[in-house]
Amino acid sequence: MSDTERPRRNFYGRLKGKSLKKSQKTYIDEDLDALSPGAVDWDANPDRTPLELDTLFDGRKVWLEIGFGGGEHLVHQAGQNPDVGIIGCEPYINGVAMLLGKIRRAGVDNLAIHPGDVRDMFDVLPEASIDRAFLLYPDPWPKTRHHRRRFVTPEHLEPLARVLKPGAIFRVATDIEDYVRQTLEQVPQHGFDWLAEGPEDWRAPWDDWLSTRYEQKALREGRTPHYLTFRKR
Ligand SMILES: C[S@@+](CC[C@H](N)C(=O)[O-])C[C@H]1O[C@@H](n2cnc3c(N)ncnc32)[C@H](O)[C@@H]1O
Repeated sequence: MSDTERPRRNFYGRLKGKSLKKSQKTYIDEDLDALSPGAVDWDANPDRTPLELDTLFDGRKVWLEIGFGGGEHLVHQAGQNPDVGIIGCEPYINGVAMLLGKIRRAGVDNLAIHPGDVRDMFDVLPEASIDRAFLLYPDPWPKTRHHRRRFVTPEHLEPLARVLKPGAIFRVATDIEDYVRQTLEQVPQHGFDWLAEGPEDWRAPWDDWLSTRYEQKALREGRTPHYLTFRKR
């Protein structure tokens, strides 16, 4: 019996959209198990024994993308950085299926996927094990009473800070002004420095950027992307 009590975690986003295509069901049936570290699952690992990242990624550096959506940025980074292992977390199964299709087409082999909540991944990541994290267009939760659901709250930032290495980079992209405000207020309180020296630093995308589906939607609807870069102290 485990003595780790499973926390109650509400997830307010969507888990499923329209029916998966036949090909997407095949990707899930054939590819997902091999790519997802079983130890993240509470039933498989009730004691929350930490993941062995060196085994998972042959000793490579490890990055983390939180809420990868359709996975375009994740696959892009994996292709550009074969010397890094990247973990992607996303509970929306249609997004996971899209990612699996992209992985097949790109032929990258340096990814691991948790088809669920990143908070379950944080439980099993060793302290100071991650070199870089991406939070790209997180759910905005625009109503004031829902701001506490945002990622940039202590419930998420405390475990994120624990698993990032000192000096690790944390990138946040958002098109929501009030999300920028909350990010700039909260993230530094959790041991990060904002690296911007002038407006160009948040207006211009990162050199290795690949625009995501949500960024494309924001641009179509006339909103301005903000690219915020933090370093863990
Ligand atoms: C607005 S979408 C952006 C998707 C993608 N990053 C993009 O830019 O197109 C936010 C995503 O974060 C995911 N998400 C929300 N909470 C999450 C959590 N606790 N763990 C992992 N992913 C989460 C949602 O399921 C959703 O797909």
